[in-house]
Amino acid sequence: MKILNINIDHIATIREARKGIEPEPLLAAQVAVLAGADGIVAHLREDRRHINDRDVKLIRELVDTRFVFEMAANEEIIKIALDLIPDLVTIVPEKREELTTEGGLDLAANIEKYKKLTDKMHEKNILVSYFIEPDKKQIDAVKETGADIIEIHTGTFANHFKTEKMINEFDKLRIAAEYGASIGLHIAAGHGLNYNNTKKILEIDAISEFSIGHSIISRAAFTGLEKAVRDMIDIIKFYKR
Ligand code: PXP
Repeated sequence: MKILNINIDHIATIREARKGIEPEPLLAAQVAVLAGADGIVAHLREDRRHINDRDVKLIRELVDTRFVFEMAANEEIIKIALDLIPDLVTIVPEKREELTTEGGLDLAANIEKYKKLTDKMHEKNILVSYFIEPDKKQIDAVKETGADIIEIHTGTFANHFKTEKMINEFDKLRIAAEYGASIGLHIAAGHGLNYNNTKKILEIDAISEFSIGHSIISRAAFTGLEKAVRDMIDIIKFYKR
């Protein structure tokens, strides 16, 4: 069965638009779990532009499901992760000027750093996932760090959905997912996935976990969050080609 993790960062983005107290990310996490989400994802960025330290503490304490802590490999945030002990960390690159995470990590260039990070997390029984481009060199690098999961960046595929470049981007994802699974990694996918393009990604059997935020929170503005989550669950778990 495929796993769906809901990223609730954009509930915090709306709150931060007014620097107030609503909407509350904890409540969004709880509603998503009630609707059947397998896990909750929150990205504590270095600049705290949406999710903050209080949010991740409350989610860890009060949401009874898989908690995926998305983070950059930055000393301050690593320390927070080791105190928080989420079920899983997803390590992403982070640039202050970007609107959202724009691409995968380059682990191959700095393998020792990521090996140490993976070991630190494993000592606390935290699973480790690296967010990478669909690139064999990066997949081999993840394997070398001893990590458990690769999350393959689907953003370029999503941007080219239904254009002539889509098949090429889709093939890159399929080849990467099948290769990663063949060397014993668990395969996740995320970025830019929505209620249409996810159906195409489901053709890749090797992908067993999805991390989706923006499209679900956007739909929630019209349908409510519970229905938006259920609609995505219907696709991820029950869509028949
Ligand atoms: N996976 C990772 C690693 C991300 O950085 C993000 C964006 O925060 C997502 C998944 C979710 O992407 P989207 O909000 O486009 O669904």
